[in-house]
Amino acid sequence: MSLFALTDNEALEFADGHATPCFVYRLDAAEERFRALSAVLPDRVRLAYAVKANPHPGIVARFAALGSDFDVASIGELELLRRAGVPGGRILFAGPGKSTEELELALSMGVRIEIDGLEDAERIEGYLSAAAPAGRPASPLALSVRVHPADGISESSRIIGGAGPSAFGVDEEDLPRFLQGMRSFRHIAVTGLQVFAASNERDASRLIANHRVALSIAERMAKDAKLDLELIDLGGGLGIPYAEGEAELDIEALGKGLDLLLRENSWFGGKLLVEPGRWLVGPCGAYLSRVIRVKESRGTRFAVLEGGINHLLRPLLTGQPFPVRAPGRDGEAKNPARAGRERTCTLTGPLCTSLDRLGSVVLPPLGPGDLLVFGQTGAYGYTEAMGAFLSHPLPAEHCLDH
Ligand SMILES: Cc1ncc(COP(=O)(O)O)c(C=O)c1O
Repeated sequence: MSLFALTDNEALEFADGHATPCFVYRLDAAEERFRALSAVLPDRVRLAYAVKANPHPGIVARFAALGSDFDVASIGELELLRRAGVPGGRILFAGPGKSTEELELALSMGVRIEIDGLEDAERIEGYLSAAAPAGRPASPLALSVRVHPADGISESSRIIGGAGPSAFGVDEEDLPRFLQGMRSFRHIAVTGLQVFAASNERDASRLIANHRVALSIAERMAKDAKLDLELIDLGGGLGIPYAEGEAELDIEALGKGLDLLLRENSWFGGKLLVEPGRWLVGPCGAYLSRVIRVKESRGTRFAVLEGGINHLLRPLLTGQPFPVRAPGRDGEAKNPARAGRERTCTLTGPLCTSLDRLGSVVLPPLGPGDLLVFGQTGAYGYTEAMGAFLSHPLPAEHCLDH
């Protein structure tokens, strides 16, 4: 599959008619990916879109119409979903530091809350007992707990879970104490858990190996603490390629692996949940920016673009550039008379800081006004960037639906 949501001609045409820099999101491609993933997941696996990857209302509305569940992690994301008319029963709320205001909004919306420890539990219990002070409720509110595994996790990429120290969740070794503490609450009960092991993983067998760890933790929780678990949230982390030649995640293998896990764990009668963000929307987005100026400096070719880390921060965080093309210059690269003129070029933005780097990539010779298209930018692009830094205008976001 191409790393670019727009063909060269589509990108050139779009940039002719719209101001750059801008993001373009293909809703049809997002829908296609959602349908493709849903089709390979076993019936007992729910699919939730992780809104943090791209909270654009057009994308949220499309996934809502397709019947997706949603993972949210802030009051802003909760409100976005409320405005989109998504019922609370289709939303899960996670995050390592939930404010009381956020918890109360989530509770009022009927959202499933994934707590990170007894502190969250105490505040929820307090809210519910103030609302219904007398006696034990007929059925306590079902909550999930995020568990941070002790070991057995493999990660080939940036850490979100892993097995080291973490601000997230309850450490696996502390689970007995946590579950004991939960017994003192009348209005809430743990009926689910979440384990998010690793991010941007393109190897289905590694994802499944991590999910197997999650299920073994769940089994011990269920048996030791006699819990009736109804939901095991396996987190996101489905990876996408960021460079030509990198393999795609085999989603069929993922679906089959989840099916096998369910069959191996016959003790569990509930549902699994996966909550990808990047995989669903990363490939649906393109970022378009023009070159402002070029400079040769002591053997290095620089191209200064209209946007930098204020629009795309991932390359600075991970050291990996987004795939990039120069559509108007493509003919030049293919022209035998000009062969060999492609060179490594350091891409920078217009910010008055030397931190403003988008990576070094091989490109044809560039000049002012040339268009660059960055692929795989539908996830962790616009909202992950440092939009306010240096007070440049924010880029526009456009949704296309072919
Ligand atoms: C709780 C939770 N779920 C899902 C995701 C989405 O992860 P990804 O976009 O890698 O699939 C994240 C990302 O940080 C997360 O924290």
